[in-house]
Amino acid sequence: MSNIRLTETKLFIDGGDPTETAEATHFLTQAGYKGLDGQTTNPSLVAKNPDIVAKIKADEKLTAAELLQKYKEIVQDIEKSAAGEISIEVYADQNTTAEEMVAQAREMGTWIQSRVIKLPTTEQGLLAAEQLKGELPLNLTLCFSQQQAAAIYSATQGSAYPVFISPFIGRLDDRGENGIDLVANILRMVGHQSHVQILTASIRSVEHILGALALGTHALTLPFAKAFKPWAEKGFPLPGEDYEYHFNGSPIPYEELDLAADWRSFDLHHDLTAVGLQKFVDDWNSLLDG
Ligand code: E4P
Repeated sequence: MSNIRLTETKLFIDGGDPTETAEATHFLTQAGYKGLDGQTTNPSLVAKNPDIVAKIKADEKLTAAELLQKYKEIVQDIEKSAAGEISIEVYADQNTTAEEMVAQAREMGTWIQSRVIKLPTTEQGLLAAEQLKGELPLNLTLCFSQQQAAAIYSATQGSAYPVFISPFIGRLDDRGENGIDLVANILRMVGHQSHVQILTASIRSVEHILGALALGTHALTLPFAKAFKPWAEKGFPLPGEDYEYHFNGSPIPYEELDLAADWRSFDLHHDLTAVGLQKFVDDWNSLLDG
């Protein structure tokens, strides 16, 4: 395999189907590039895995233990074509405690070598992150505001591994806000060299890819059909010096925040975080027997 990298930004596939991971790797290597740097998964994406969809269609629901076992097998398969950093998300609803997330994270951390544990950007998620930052690589997901990103930064100071912050740009665009501004604001706040890495998520288009690359995001996670394949079919274009990002949403203003402040002093609430958490829970629970 060639060692040529397409870009300095880490490239991940966002999905729960290992055949997409293999296909994306094939596209990259055929074009002469090194393969993927890893993958992100979440409960909704796992629920769309073809084997799971087939089981549900056949009216075969799963027990919680069977579903977790299936999730483990999926990430083990993904690792075969995208060994690097593979995010595995803990189950968390509004009542899940930090201790419960920590226990899940420790178990999931044994599944694969390339594991990164995804925790929600909530108070309990950050309490869990504080406990886990010395032992596992982390990805704080469902980030929709600069205040949340500042809280993640502050809570994970001194981490043994770089910590991913995942701003969800497509879901902000969906409600008329310019999601890419959030990436720009977080990068401006934390700088390019720190213990956190910005993993631009909820990407919907090639325009999103180019916009995030132009900002110098540390990592990008791409849904295969909606973004990776159209980008590959265009020959993996990169933004040039004169590139300009266009989106007609309302701008998200930059806030001056003190990163040395205690993480509890930042506003952790965002309605899209709560909605996103509930959607993950609903998709996961829809697969379970009883
Ligand atoms: C990131 O880790 C998430 O899995 C993902 O990017 C969510 O994207 P969506 O808003 O398209 O569901």
